Amino acid sequence: MTRTVYVNGDYLPEEDAKVSVFDRSFLMADGVYEVTSVLGGKLIDFDGHLARLERSLGELDMQKPEAFDDLLEIHRELVRRNDLEDGMIYLQVSRGSAGDRDFIFPDPKEVKPTLVLFTQSKPGLADSPAAKTGIKVISIEDIRWGRRDIKTVQLLYPSMGKMMAIKAGCDDAWLVEDGFVTEGTSNNAYIVKDGKIITRQLSNDILHGITRAAVLRFAREAQMEVEERSFTLDEAKAADEAFITSASQFVMPVVEIDGVTLGDGAPGKVAPRLREIYLDESLKNAI
Ligand code: PDD
Repeated sequence: MTRTVYVNGDYLPEEDAKVSVFDRSFLMADGVYEVTSVLGGKLIDFDGHLARLERSLGELDMQKPEAFDDLLEIHRELVRRNDLEDGMIYLQVSRGSAGDRDFIFPDPKEVKPTLVLFTQSKPGLADSPAAKTGIKVISIEDIRWGRRDIKTVQLLYPSMGKMMAIKAGCDDAWLVEDGFVTEGTSNNAYIVKDGKIITRQLSNDILHGITRAAVLRFAREAQMEVEERSFTLDEAKAADEAFITSASQFVMPVVEIDGVTLGDGAPGKVAPRLREIYLDESLKNAI
């Protein structure tokens, strides 16, 4: 089945879905994105992703696409047209194409943003085998720019980080700045020590994860202790447990950091419990 992709108001077969070579996301990484997971044909945490998209656009002075208020319907239509059961919907907004290359932003009255959405099918997304064994991470220096709270399409370094991890026989990388873990290449990072869940506080240094917000809320509701503060790489290596969260991985246990095994090398109690709660609650609220 040919995938149907949304481009600026049209639903097109993927081979016909095209944007200009002058699009600013292509030339300048002048674009923002969201990834919303789909389970059982329903959207998880949609309102959170929409709110963060609006914030990313605002922080970059990028106008909202005309179809902004129709985004829920567009997501649902793509799910329908692509028979998507489990997977993700990728959404990207760019500052559009001014028909040439220029560092100066085009006049928003003349150049409209580009809006693209497509589906990625991942059957059994919530039953990932990695959730049972946990993943291994390496640490790398965080050399990204200073506005990591904006979800831009500048993903070269995170992509390089994942490649470094694979080369080292691991699954992903944690980014470290001044000895402190910021986040994972495409996820938020957590450790657990003496039953307490520790994750970096929100600031411009990390993406304000939608899954993070939900997981911390559920953890507090379940009377788990949560501390939002920076933690060092050394602290992480001495932790009882560690895990990551993201829209595509939900809650994923981390069992090894830079070759140092955490606990007995298997997922502990906290991460699998949080994964279960997150999936249960999110499915209940999926739309
Ligand atoms: N990544 N931190 C970074 C740097 C991210 O790229 C992501 C998401 C997260 C987690 O955010 P959320 O819980 O809202 O998905 C944290 C997406 C999934 C991606 O790039 O594919």
